[in-house]
Amino acid sequence: MDIRGQYEQLLPEIKQLVGDVIDSGRFILGPNVRALEEEVAESVGFGHAVAVANGTDALELGLQALGIGPGDEVVTTAYTFFATAEAIARRGATPVFADIDPVTLCLDPEAAEAAVSERTRAVMPVHIFGQPADLGAFRELADRHGIALIEDAAQAFGAGYEGYRAGSYGDVATFSFFPTKNFPAMGDAGMAMAATQEIAERLRLLRFHGSRDKRTFAQIGVNSRLDEMQAAILRRFLPEVDGWNQARRDAAARYRELGLGDHVALPAEAPGRTHIYHLYVVRSPDRDHLQRRLKDAGVASAVYYGEPHHLQPVFQSLGYRPGSLPETEAAAREGLALPMFPTITEEQQLEVVGAVRGAASAAA
Ligand SMILES: Cc1ncc(COP(=O)(O)O)c(C=O)c1O
Repeated sequence: MDIRGQYEQLLPEIKQLVGDVIDSGRFILGPNVRALEEEVAESVGFGHAVAVANGTDALELGLQALGIGPGDEVVTTAYTFFATAEAIARRGATPVFADIDPVTLCLDPEAAEAAVSERTRAVMPVHIFGQPADLGAFRELADRHGIALIEDAAQAFGAGYEGYRAGSYGDVATFSFFPTKNFPAMGDAGMAMAATQEIAERLRLLRFHGSRDKRTFAQIGVNSRLDEMQAAILRRFLPEVDGWNQARRDAAARYRELGLGDHVALPAEAPGRTHIYHLYVVRSPDRDHLQRRLKDAGVASAVYYGEPHHLQPVFQSLGYRPGSLPETEAAAREGLALPMFPTITEEQQLEVVGAVRGAASAAA
């Protein structure tokens, strides 16, 4: 990825905005943070936004705001960044891993439903690589079982499901603005979206040591505040995100037109969903060979989530074994992220396709 290209032209403005924050002397949870919360809520089109220090805190505080803790189970996917499962475990709850849909690579609603027990308090799909999980099915599942729906939308700001934006189905939904995300800050930053005012109030309390006024402490919270510089940067980038997402979608369409699909399985966009290709992950049965050949040809690629969580040493006590989640394990074995960023050019994409073709013919 090339994260600088998309905002290169905005840098003089960004430097000015950061300078304004320095001049203001307000550094934490000030007017930019409040305005960003309103603007993000308006952009998502649903709920209340509470800015926090990063996407991991957004997940953990979201779980806490929903009252999830020791003894509870949360059904989720093992094919995601570690923070998803970590947040559940940090609450003292147990992650229960269900398999993914082989087409979208997101948590499969049927597999998730089969994993629900009387201790389940929430289901937490992840909009992996920028494509929303089957939110309609998850909302129904959550309502049927009387449990919460938490969307881990860290990779999917601006992605769509049936005309609605990712983040507008969950009781809680979370975003990460880590600098490599499709809506980037220039440091750590995150957001928790809450479906109700009540959940939002709990989140506000939790992000500031469990206190409203710095004098009375209603519960044990954390320090997870967003700073004004990141908020000012994010406010300037917010109106650009849809354009950047569209550029990613155009680049994905171009990979298809250039014939990449003749050599590897391309990411699929499920009907009714708008994938924003935070990462462009193809599949090949001979992934490691492909990656070596791409490296030799000077083309960058990366394996995401090659070791799914259910097989990680830290979760050994949960009793999963190789073969427990076949679709998850196949995606972990076969997935390879190819270059994808809003300013990628046709020439660069041609080079990628040429290198993939070369690797495929070497393998044949
Ligand atoms: C799916 C997913 N969940 C959670 C996170 C955590 O976000 P952060 O790095 O901002 O803590 C990330 C990104 O890093 C992510 O990709």
